Amino acid sequence: MKLTVVVSLIAQIIAKLTSATIRHVTGTSPTAKKWDYRTLVTMTIFRVVFVGTMLQGVTLGQLQAFTTKDKEIRGKMWVAKATIRSPNDKDTDMRESVFEAIEELNLSTAPLQYTKPALAEGGLQVEWTGVRSGVGDKEPLPDISEDEKYQGLMSDPARTSKVTILYFHGGAFMMSGVATYREFVTKIAENAGGRVCNVAYRLAPVHAFPSQLLDGLMVYLSLLYPPPGSMHEAVPANEIVFAGDSAGANLCFAIVQLVLQLQRSSSNNDKQATLRFWDKNVTIPLPAGIAVTAPPFDMSTSLPSHKKNAAFDYLVPFEKVFPLIAPDAIWPTNPPRGDVYCDLSLFDHPLVSPITASSWAGAPPIWISVGQEAIADDSLFVAKTMSEEGVIVQLEQSEAMPHGFAIMLQRLAAAKESIANWGNFCRNCVEKPEALATRAVWVKVNGTQDEIDITKVTELGYGEVRGLMEVGKKRRHEFLEAQKW
Ligand SMILES: *[C@@H]1O[C@H](CO)[C@@H](O)[C@H](O)[C@H]1NC(C)=O
Ligand SMILES: *[C@@H]1O[C@H](CO)[C@@H](O)[C@H](O)[C@H]1NC(C)=O
Ligand SMILES: *[C@@H]1O[C@H](CO)[C@@H](O)[C@H](O)[C@H]1NC(C)=O
Repeated sequence: MKLTVVVSLIAQIIAKLTSATIRHVTGTSPTAKKWDYRTLVTMTIFRVVFVGTMLQGVTLGQLQAFTTKDKEIRGKMWVAKATIRSPNDKDTDMRESVFEAIEELNLSTAPLQYTKPALAEGGLQVEWTGVRSGVGDKEPLPDISEDEKYQGLMSDPARTSKVTILYFHGGAFMMSGVATYREFVTKIAENAGGRVCNVAYRLAPVHAFPSQLLDGLMVYLSLLYPPPGSMHEAVPANEIVFAGDSAGANLCFAIVQLVLQLQRSSSNNDKQATLRFWDKNVTIPLPAGIAVTAPPFDMSTSLPSHKKNAAFDYLVPFEKVFPLIAPDAIWPTNPPRGDVYCDLSLFDHPLVSPITASSWAGAPPIWISVGQEAIADDSLFVAKTMSEEGVIVQLEQSEAMPHGFAIMLQRLAAAKESIANWGNFCRNCVEKPEALATRAVWVKVNGTQDEIDITKVTELGYGEVRGLMEVGKKRRHEFLEAQKW
């Protein structure tokens, strides 16, 4: 980053922090009694950086490069890099199944605009990650082959459970990568006693929806049915839990909704979803569970919590940030797209905004952690709906916590508690699924948990959600037309 940019950001942070501090100590801000001073400082920095960097002429390409940078692997973690091979052209079944499901689930009143992506050229990179016991924080990974690192991970004494966590990282589908998330997914592996498969799915805007969905399905199928030459052995579905944060959490639900749809439209008597994968007919079972934090279920960002919870969050509406991003080769796209991830005709599609899904019946147990954040209503609505459809769902909402607090504010007790519960749930999905029960809790800033009635967490109904999304979509259309791209 240029020095002038850094100086300008620091000046903005000092100005914002001064006024925020006055409101904090005089008790006149909604967060004064809920956040400690360090959280206030961190959040002020986030708020400035999220908008401030854009004001300095940063491009999406630069943001992407900065947030996906690789770094040396050190400390208490095993990381084995592997390539998940893409099946060759003869195996078009997987792609076709995805495109068919997109058409079957179409809710749009306008033609759906998307191009049918190829599978990832050269395959997808994943990182098998887990705890490396008995080493110091600065210890580099030994200079051994990736296969040997994988063996190290598999035989580490910290791995006490069979659970495999298939992790999809956050970053609005356009930023961050496996390297950014190594430490964090290691914590989840540690708390679950298992291992993580951390996926480098393709990023928007260069790769638009449904590239990410295809990538997710391909990696999941590859865990179940390893392609020739894979580092891993076949993993049974009842040992796989999907996990992710933010956009990655959205993807977890989109993949499960896709599998549910393949089952619903299956012509088999037993309603098993099947397709051809690497020259074999395979069935597509559901995973053992889904465990996520801060899932955006409504990509049009239209629900009331965006306004109601703004004081506790740092996320900025698309319409405010995107005009500030300097153009480069990847953004705006040519022709301009209404969203980085997809065309606006897909905004209310259940595989893009899973809040519009007509049914979750049959979904595996779900764990959702969310703050008192801008997209909180997404989770409250989906958790309530799922519970009504007989899905086992555990909802934990943390008072006064912003988007992704478990990752962004890891020193807080609320974050530590959340990660512990997250890992535990993943393990229980595999080891004690019959003991899992639906529940909802409100976690206060002082750590006290209040049980709440999951059927009463929101008053929003499906029709109202769809109506609000229509408004949001219209707003985005107007925004798009007003742009001079
Ligand atoms: C989705 O539905 C709309 C409205 O019925 C229709 O115009 C469009 O062609 C459909 N798109 C696809 C891909 O089926
Ligand atoms: C695989 O499925 C296809 C159609 O779904 C069927 O024609 C074929 O016989 C099946 N092959 C095997 C080996 O079961
Ligand atoms: C947390 O706050 C609630 C009131 O909001 C209070 O009833 C409870 O005793 C407090 N718990 C602790 C551990 O301080």
